[in-house]
Amino acid sequence: MVTLDRDGLIAAIECKDPAFNEALRQEAFRTKVAHIGTEVYLRGLIEISNICRKNCLYCGIRRDNASCARYELSDAEVLAAAARAARQRFGSVVIQGGERTDAAFVRKITRLVKAIKQIETDSEGGRPLGITLSLGEQPREVYEEWFEAGAHRYLLRIETSNPDLYHRIHPQDSQHSFERRMEALLDLKAIGYQAGTGAMIGLPYQTAADLADDLLFYKRFDAPMIGMGPYNPNDETPLTLSGAPYPSDAERLELGLKMIALLRLLMPDINIASATALEVLSPRGRELGILSGANVFMPNVTPDEQMVKYNLYDRKTLLRDRPHPGESLFADSLGESLRNGRITIGFGRWGDSKHFTASKP
Ligand code: 5AD
Ligand code: SF4
Repeated sequence: MVTLDRDGLIAAIECKDPAFNEALRQEAFRTKVAHIGTEVYLRGLIEISNICRKNCLYCGIRRDNASCARYELSDAEVLAAAARAARQRFGSVVIQGGERTDAAFVRKITRLVKAIKQIETDSEGGRPLGITLSLGEQPREVYEEWFEAGAHRYLLRIETSNPDLYHRIHPQDSQHSFERRMEALLDLKAIGYQAGTGAMIGLPYQTAADLADDLLFYKRFDAPMIGMGPYNPNDETPLTLSGAPYPSDAERLELGLKMIALLRLLMPDINIASATALEVLSPRGRELGILSGANVFMPNVTPDEQMVKYNLYDRKTLLRDRPHPGESLFADSLGESLRNGRITIGFGRWGDSKHFTASKP
């Protein structure tokens, strides 16, 4: 129903016919099930710190946002969150945070990765937790140090594959360079990480062609995993304050789901995350992401007190990702699809992408 070349992708992205969009999501879901099954992999998301040295114009935890209350989880808090993830048989954790390059922080991550590997799990063969890091651009040696410590996946979004748009949504200085971001992605890949990337969807100034190019970039980069999600405004950021228009909530939700569906058709066996940013736009946002072709779900395991301070965008408050006594796990966030078996959960699985495993000898 879609030709997956640039023109076909642009036409699909621009199409506003609800019947077409629904059929596209259903086809993507069928494609997913045919290639990788119904199983959703879990990653416990630990938001380690909202301190950031960068000043991205769209982000609520940017350096110059003086009204953002800063925090950093202690080692004990991170390990407790990881242990909670292990107890709930999430299989993997993601450590995400603002970009910091100071030596104390670098060492802390190395120490934590090693310690998380020691946490007991009841996965098959007592396999330790899988670890994804999402801590921004770092010198290659730092990526190497963390890889050697035991991290094996790294998520670094390109934010947009259009260098002109990239420059419009970042300060014009050497700290915010599209070229440097690309170089970091190539470093991660060369070191041996499963290097994931992604972009924001529905940004001011972004066109359908930009979004099509994002999809083609993922394919060219041969990404084993993608985490992309709708742009959501934060009222304290220069991008929102500039008044530049962007698509409505309903349009960004539709676009976010459509991008997942198109990517699934383009890359049937990769891991695609159903982003938290979808949940802001609909109470069933992440479930809809899974039904549109995503297969990774990241329950937030950050302690409540800090989770509310990790305000990348407005309305990203408390996610109800705790298991519910007497009810199936994630009853709120995955709901109906879990009950009727369209979604199954890969408890205790690392959940590497079939795409990545298949490419290894
Ligand atoms: N809307 C959506 N996503 C955002 N991020 C930062 N600010 C926003 C926003 N306003 C995303 C970026 C970054 C990730 C950690 O959070 O894509 O890579
Ligand atoms: Fe920092 Fe990432 Fe936000 Fe940019 S998007 S300000 S690097 S946390």
